[in-house]
Amino acid sequence: MVGLFIGIKGKSVAQNWSRAHSTPRYNKSKADVLTAFQTLKYLGSKRKLIPFLEKTIKSVVGDDLSQLTFCDLFAGTGIVGRTFKSSVKEVTSNDLEYYAYVINRNYIGNHETIADSQDYIDLLNRIPLEHKGFIYQNYCPGESGRMYFSDHNGKKIDTMRKWIEWLKKIGIEDDLYFFLLASLIESADTVSNVTALYTAYLKNLIPKAQESLILEPAHFETTKNTHRVFNENANDLIRKISGDILYLDPPYTCRQYGGDYHLLGTIAKYDNFVPTGITGRRDYKRSAWASNKSAEGQLDDLLKHAQFKYIFMSYNNEGLMLPDVIKSMMSKYGKYDVAETEYRRFKSSAGTHKANTTMEYLHILEKP
Ligand SMILES: C[S@@+](CC[C@H](N)C(=O)[O-])C[C@H]1O[C@@H](n2cnc3c(N)ncnc32)[C@H](O)[C@@H]1O
Repeated sequence: MVGLFIGIKGKSVAQNWSRAHSTPRYNKSKADVLTAFQTLKYLGSKRKLIPFLEKTIKSVVGDDLSQLTFCDLFAGTGIVGRTFKSSVKEVTSNDLEYYAYVINRNYIGNHETIADSQDYIDLLNRIPLEHKGFIYQNYCPGESGRMYFSDHNGKKIDTMRKWIEWLKKIGIEDDLYFFLLASLIESADTVSNVTALYTAYLKNLIPKAQESLILEPAHFETTKNTHRVFNENANDLIRKISGDILYLDPPYTCRQYGGDYHLLGTIAKYDNFVPTGITGRRDYKRSAWASNKSAEGQLDDLLKHAQFKYIFMSYNNEGLMLPDVIKSMMSKYGKYDVAETEYRRFKSSAGTHKANTTMEYLHILEKP
């Protein structure tokens, strides 16, 4: 692939290409960015709860957030940080999972327009396919029998992923690198042959998985202010940061995100390992928040070390920690309150619950 453009600096690769292939430009408003563009379908995503969260947080902190910092410590898809990105002084975003880091590094970390970004998307959409990449060999029916992606899309993911790495090698900026990688992770997810989680693939290719992958740009909002993005264990990071508003959205159940979304982690890292078992899982970090034994200890530790005035924590009535336990733990550290709303359950093939709705809480702690 390098031979195609050898000797051409990173930026001009895409410019040269776009001279030959022109496509429409994107120019979206803030509302479009938040509602029209894809975010991952994600276990525990707060996308539909954004109005509830925004209203409750503003009712406690005030409407003008411009002088306040906001930290989204378990950021996942990044949708909560994105909501506050343009109205606060600075967003700090963090997640244990590398694929979530990539997504947040784009949506939160990127704050200035990237020149020629659409040209790079066009370039990646048109390059000739590789035939023997890691995803094709291990996660597609043709070679491994695993059916996470069609053979064609597996080859497309490999081709684009290798090119993104090559572009990095020849000198594109980090902002562009993470924009392209986030675009690939989200676009690949839209053609995956799973119902929601990557814990299992379906026996036959469902209609969305039969469609050819198209790389869609992961548009981010531009702001004057800069933002920070981390890929750390929340309980380690909390000891090193401080600010005004801390939003917590830890796992509610024993499900481990590193296992449930292992293939997104593999596309993000694109490292070499031997996939194991029927599902071809990789090794992943286990979160102590997703454990009956340790969740309460993690919360107490985090509240103790949090140097933030306002702390908000999402949790529901079916989570590992009971509402009363959270209430008494938070009350030790300051003034406690709670807001609640009914919420339609996230559906996945792994789910066993019968009720269609849950009660979603926003626990509130004001530290002295
Ligand atoms: C409920 S989801 C967050 C969803 C997110 N608010 C959204 O709307 O997309 C929980 C997130 O916590 C992350 N996580 C789990 N344990 C963590 C830890 N110890 N430190 C940091 N992040 C962690 C998971 O990777 C997952 O993305």
